[in-house]
Parts: sequence; structure tokens; C-alpha cells
Amino acid sequence: MKGTVHIFAIFLSLFCFGLCSWSRNQITFTNGGYNNVLIAINKDIPENQQLVDTIKEIFTSASEKLLNATNKRAYWRSISILVPKSWQHKPEYEAVTSESFDRANVVIDFENPRWGDNPYTKQLGGCGEPGEYIHLTPNYILEKSMSEYIWGPMDKLLLHEWGHLRWGLFDEYTTSDPGSAPFYATSSNTVEATRCSLAITGQYVNIFTLRDCYLDPDTGIYQPECVFFPDVNGQTTKASIMYGQFIDSVYTYCHSDSSDPLGYHNVEAPHKHNIMCSSKSSWDVMLESDDFKNNANPPIEGKVDTKPIFRIIQARERRVVLVLDTSDSMRGERLEKLLQSATQYLRYTIDEGSYVGIVEFNIAAYVVSELVYISDNNTSREVLVAALPVDTERETCIGCGILDGIEVLSRNGDDPAGGYLLVISDGKNTQPPGIKNVIDEVNNAGVIIDTIAFTNKADTELTTLSEETGGIAFFFAGDSDISVLNNAFTATVTTRPDVSTQSLPITLYSDSLKVPVGANISDSVFIDSTVGLETVFTFSWIGTLIQLWLESPDGNFVDQNQYIVDKDTNIITIKINDTAMTGYWVFTVANVNKKSPSQVATVTVTSKQSSKEDPIEVLALVSDPSINYSTEPVVAIYAIVTKGYLPVINAQVFAVVQSPDAIEEVPLFDNGAEPDITEDDGVYSGYYLGFSNNGRYSVAIKVNNSAQMAMVNMAKVTGSLPIKPESTNDDLPVFEPTGMFVRITSGGVIQVENYVDNPKDNLAPSRILDLSVVKTSYSEQSVVLQWTAVGDDFNKGTATKYELMAASNYSKLFYDFANSRLVTNDDLILGNMSIISPAGTRETVTIRVPTRGEDATYFFAIRAHDESDNYGEVSNIVSANMEYIPPIPAENQDPEKRIALWATLGTLGIAIFAGIIFAFFRSSKQKKNKLNKVEHSDNVNNRMDNVTYCEP
Ligand SMILES: *[C@@H]1O[C@H](CO)[C@@H](O)[C@H](O)[C@H]1NC(C)=O
Repeated sequence: MKGTVHIFAIFLSLFCFGLCSWSRNQITFTNGGYNNVLIAINKDIPENQQLVDTIKEIFTSASEKLLNATNKRAYWRSISILVPKSWQHKPEYEAVTSESFDRANVVIDFENPRWGDNPYTKQLGGCGEPGEYIHLTPNYILEKSMSEYIWGPMDKLLLHEWGHLRWGLFDEYTTSDPGSAPFYATSSNTVEATRCSLAITGQYVNIFTLRDCYLDPDTGIYQPECVFFPDVNGQTTKASIMYGQFIDSVYTYCHSDSSDPLGYHNVEAPHKHNIMCSSKSSWDVMLESDDFKNNANPPIEGKVDTKPIFRIIQARERRVVLVLDTSDSMRGERLEKLLQSATQYLRYTIDEGSYVGIVEFNIAAYVVSELVYISDNNTSREVLVAALPVDTERETCIGCGILDGIEVLSRNGDDPAGGYLLVISDGKNTQPPGIKNVIDEVNNAGVIIDTIAFTNKADTELTTLSEETGGIAFFFAGDSDISVLNNAFTATVTTRPDVSTQSLPITLYSDSLKVPVGANISDSVFIDSTVGLETVFTFSWIGTLIQLWLESPDGNFVDQNQYIVDKDTNIITIKINDTAMTGYWVFTVANVNKKSPSQVATVTVTSKQSSKEDPIEVLALVSDPSINYSTEPVVAIYAIVTKGYLPVINAQVFAVVQSPDAIEEVPLFDNGAEPDITEDDGVYSGYYLGFSNNGRYSVAIKVNNSAQMAMVNMAKVTGSLPIKPESTNDDLPVFEPTGMFVRITSGGVIQVENYVDNPKDNLAPSRILDLSVVKTSYSEQSVVLQWTAVGDDFNKGTATKYELMAASNYSKLFYDFANSRLVTNDDLILGNMSIISPAGTRETVTIRVPTRGEDATYFFAIRAHDESDNYGEVSNIVSANMEYIPPIPAENQDPEKRIALWATLGTLGIAIFAGIIFAFFRSSKQKKNKLNKVEHSDNVNNRMDNVTYCEP
């Protein structure tokens, strides 16, 4: 039993390793040097040489600091800067290969309104898992003196972000994450500010009164108005960069060598790093990373030239060659479906200003169309549609198709680098060369290869080919309706918006209607106000012509004269002129031919951004597209729902996973419970556990707001802790309802190997990440704890048992959880440990603790068990101070006095303090709201008076 748990604990911490970002630009690390870091400038940022020069300057200086921070283990050796295609070409600009904005490790882009110019790193995975990208704004880079005044030296700030991006470290200051707090009660019965290391000195200031801080009788820690200001100068501690990079003496990350207190990791502080990494120091996490584990990349001896080599590369227009399988196995319905999807892609998906060519392959390969420029009229699109191959031939030579595709991209001496091949095949290679034989040519050409495996028989190397070239792999089961295929075609364009100059189609509906003989079936799609331009409804089918009607939200039917009926490919298209009316559009499909069997009509509705306002969009990611079931029987699926950079929260999000045998809908949540690492950031996450065989599983993401709860989250957050927080604009509403909307997108393919039919339950419940103390009471001698319930298998279902443990010092719980004091129902004033809620539910208990007073501090941690007694990892550890705390003096509480003080502080003062208090107030407000729910039913009894906690 323990062995099982151990094995799964290992895969859990590894399963997403490096793979949440599998389609990202890969940075290599050799002999202490990082190679091939990609910094990309957004296409809409105006040409500015100063921007490029300053980027070079700060990364050069940061490279030297990185060497110092890592005890001479790492620096940046080579960095590529991708500049937009709109910038004037210079001779020194190299041609782009697989680099693109959407794959960059560092993006230079306009501000994310939640962060303003505050640099931050987007992370999706857990402790030790690389982040997605670092976001720096042009303002941050160009206004160097202002930026350094607010956040401290830019080079040290980059080390902070690199810690997130490369090694999966988290912030060591307080954040609004549940479980994190600005202050905490220590094992030495004191109250400290959350920081690393504890040797950092500073002042505790009530930011309203500018006087001393008071302990709050409701929480046992300092009142919410209290802020800890670390001293910027005169410190001696060397860590941590993940706390305050602006502190003069800080140059490295916290370590776990207790003989060296200057930079020693503070295990007890409730910050996100300790929560996510189970109190492991940053250095320990770094040493376990691929960069350094097993003594890889030891300290470099001697002098190192840390100056990175910079390449400037320039983006190009989109160039795509469709490489289509026309072997005999495609004959009939398969080819018909492929042509339907390809036709829709050529007519409505591929963006104006791109180039598209077509190659077909069977026993050999043939160029069906050279690259054609997609102009603003339909002629070029129809030329390509007319060129699509319609006949099949024996044998399959995928390698031939790839080589011809590269050749099309190389015509007239052009450089194929940075071009895309979209390879679609339903079989294994039967005629050499195969995929493996042409990989050198692919690499030399620098092309990106997207693949669609058409049926489960398709060559498994297709997925690998995409992974290796930075492409995306998809799967279409072949026998189903073509919505999955349409989504795949669309995603090859829409996941790379930066390659376009135009806005791209957004898919609102993609599904099929099964219409029995002689019957009508209706469905509807909601077109929201952020989209509505160039709205296209397409209906495709196999067999006899269908009939249909489309009704706009005002109840009028669209005139049948507007239908474009393509009898060759069996597609009816309806384009809405002008901006489509907001609301529900109802379509009805009729199977009128009384003799034909039931018919399947695939319906796709796409639309484009209608105003300056950003549309709501969804991007899908899977933790790993290649699953080795024997070590990793689970995959995490992420959907990022945003409006511009702003998160859309409270939407209903589902992953639809389609295997050859079944379809399963998995709800995804943005609740901060595993595998979701941050609440309310617009990243919805969930595990898929339903593998039932080897083979391919396609993933689609469906998002809607039927519950009318979705909001755009504009709440400010802190990326890197500022010395002097920027001003926040208090007039901004923090949450804004989105109104009704629907979206759908493809999440690509998951390929499963080594499946074993294993009915034994060996999946443990998830780790609880958000245990928190929401209230303490001296008079009642009680502590209110909350956490989010996990499931039986990870966060699916309901766990069987909780082990909530208590101790009077941190180490006891941390090192000897199993032998700490179990909290039982006898200890509870409110709640019941035997009642386990389903995963995702908030659990609350009020515990009566045995003693109170100056020397009484209690620590708590929890884990869940399932019925087979698999158990999750131990949660974050929280503490509660049980000393007597007198009421806070009235002058420190009077709201009018606060306002007066704010007025005397003046605008500058407000500007300086506003940012930092925001996080505190947000979290304290949330906690108060939660508390209100508990307090009204408070009902004290003294059942636990005689209970003592036994500890050795
Ligand atoms: C707790 O719940 C269990 C199971 O429902 C029940 O048997 C028990 O009586 C409850 N205990 C208390 C103290 O309410």
C-alpha cells in the first residue's frame, strides 16, 4: 500500500514535467549555458531600436547575476529576439524558423491590465514544473529608471522571473492564494511577516495610521492594515530573489543549509512557494530539476564569459502547405470528409495575407498547387479549393509528401524556414522514405509540422514529428462526424494569432446533428457582442442533400437565396452580412429524403471580433500528449479563457475527450485545487482518468456561460514584489459580467501506450493545497479551519477519510505527520470529520484546542484517503496563535480616521501604498466573507477541556 502511494507520488510530481509547455520553444542547457532562449516582441508594438538594445543590455547584465545566483552553475549563452514582420527589415535580421510569438519563453507585449507594467510569469503546473512565459511590457523596459525605482534592479528581477519559468519556483511573499497569509504564528510563539529568509529585517507599519501594528484578536496575527516593509539597504542576508529582488544584499535563492542563516529557507512562512513545494527550499527544487540533478552542470571552474550571443530574427507571413494522404485507404467517405474540412479551411479559416500550397501523397508525392497568396477576394481561395485532390492511389509515402512540402516552401530560392506543413494521413508508411528517413531534411529546412492522425491506424510517429518541430498534433477518429477534424484545421491557424495581420475566426459551435428519416432537428448558437463580424454557418453531410433553415434572434429566417450550396463537396454555407445580431441563432436541419437512413450533419459556426473590445477566447493545453500508461495513467487538461490578457472566471468549462470507444466530458475548474494552481486566473484545469485502451484520444474544450456567472477578473495582482507599489486606479470595476457566450476549440491529441487493464484502485486523492486558518478565538479556545475537498482519485469523486493532524510545533508535523495528534470529532465544536464532501466543496471545521496563552501555538495539516487507503500528499501546514490579544484600540479601527489619514497622505502616499494593500485586503475580505457563513451558527461547548495533545 505504501509502495503504491510512493510510486504515484513520484509520477505526480513528474507527470507534467516540462510538458505543460510542450509546444513552447525548447531551451537547452549545456555546460552551464542556456541556449536558444526565445524573446518575442508582439506584432503590434511599433518599431523601436531602443527596445531591442535595452533587452540586450538587461539580459547581458542579468546573465552575470545569474551565474552568481546559481553558485556559478548557469548563465544565458544564446538568446534570440524575434521582431515583428512590420518592422523594417535590416540585413542583420535572420530568417525565422520554428520561432513564433506563441512559443516564446519571454514575451514583450502591451500590459496585462491586472499587472500593469509589473513583470510576471505565467505558470500552469506545480512545483518544479517550468512556467509558460515571462511577460515584460515595453514600458517596463524603456522606462528603466522608473521601473527600477518601483521594482529594483532589472537584472535581479529577471532572476526572480527565471526562477518561476525555468525551475517552477513560486513567490516567497504573500499572495492572494488561499493558504497564503502576510503574517503567521511561529513555532517560537511569535508572529512574523511572511518572507524568505527570516533574517530579512524590516518595519511593521499600520499603513493607515503609520503607527505600530496590532495583533488582531480574530486571527492571532497582525491586523489586515499592517504591512511589513523590508529594509532595502543595510541588510546582510543573501536571499531570496523569490522574495525581494530589490533588497541590496539579496543575490540568490533560499537554501536549506542551516549552518548558513543568511539565506536559510524559512519553512514555516505561508507563501505560495512553501504551499506548492511542501516547504522545500528554492535551491532544493532547483537541484532536483533536470538542469542540476545527479550533479549535472556543477559549478563552472575559472572565468566565464557570461555575455549572451544575441540573434535578431524577423517574423514572416504565414506559409502553409497542406500535405494530404490520397492512398487507397482514404477512398470514399474518408476523402470526402477530408475535402469537406479542407474546403472550409481554405474558404473561411486561413487568413488573408497568407500563402497556401497543396501536396498529395500515395505511392509518391505530387505538388497539386504551388503557394498561392490569399488575397482579399475569393478567387485565390477558390483556385485552391478546385485544386484539392479527388482520386486515390495505392501505397502511402508520408516522407515523400513531407519532402515535396518542403520543396514547395523553397520555390524560387525562398527559405522554407518558418513555414508550416499540415500533414494528414490515415495509415502507416508503406513506401519509403518514411517519417524517420526525412527528419534531417525537416530539421535543416526549419519547418514546423502540424499533423492530423486520421483514424487510429495512422502512423504513431506523426505525434512525435509535431512535438519535435514545434507543431501541434491532432486526431480524428475517421468514422465520426467531421467537427473534430474542422476544429483541428482551425486550431492550426487560431493558436498562432501573431502570425496574422487580420483578426481570426473564433469557433462558437462545432457539433453534429443526427437527423432521423423524415425528421427535423434544431439547435442554437449564441453570438455574443464581442464577435459578430464575418459570421459563417457551415453545414456538411455525407449522402443526399439536406434541407435547413436559419433563424436570427429577432425571429426572422435568413433568405434561402443567401445559402451557398456546394453539391460537389456537400456543404451549405450561410454568411451573415454586416455584424450578426447578438443573441440565439436557431438552425434546423431536415432529412427530407424519405428513403435515406438517418443523416449526420456537421455544423460549424465561426465569427470574428466585432469591435475594438477584445473578444473572449479559449486556448487549450494538455500536460502531455504522449502518455505512458504504466507510469503515468493520467493527463491534466487546461483551458485558458481570456478576454485579451484578462481572465474570464466562473465560466462553465468542459473537456470533451473522445476515444475510439467513448466520449467523456470532464469538467474543468479554476478553483486553485489540484491540478489548478491558481484560483480565478482564467486557467481551468482538470484530470482525465478515463483511458480504456492504447491509442489516440482527441480533446475538445467547450466553454459557456449558461449559468450567467462568468466575469472578467480585473483584480490587480503582484508579479514581482515592488519596493514602491504602483498606483492602482480605484475607479476600475474589479469584476465585470461577460454576458452569455459560447466557445469551442481543439485541445489536440493524447496518445496512450502501455495501457494495462488494472481494475485495482491505485490512484490516491489529490494533495490539499489550500488549508487555511480563517479565525482564532482566545475566549472560545478555538480555531476555524477551511480547505477544499479533494476526490477519491485525484479530484474526482469523494474521498473516504480525512487525517487532520495537529502539533504544537512545525517540525513535528512536517517530519512526523503520521504520528502527530489526530483531530477527531471529540475535538470539534462545529463540523464533523466523518462527513466528507465531494471534491471541490469547501470544508469548514471549528476545533477546540487544549491550551491557550502566550506559549500556545498550534500547527495543522491534512491529507485525504480513499477506500483502498491510498492517501494524498500532506497539505500545506498552517498555524494558529492562541495567546490572549486585547481588542485593537479604537483609533486604529475608526474608518473616518482612516479616511482623514488617507487625505493627509496625499496622492503620492496613496499611490505608494495602494498596490501592496490591495492583495491583503482582497484576501482578508475573502476570508471575512467566508467567516460570516460560519459565525452565525457558532455554538461553543467545552467537550475538549480535558484533551491534551501528546507529543514526544
Ligand atoms: C458525524 O457524522 C457521522 C456520519 O454521518 C455520524 O454517525 C456521527 O454521529 C456524527 N457525529 C457528530 C458528533 O455529529
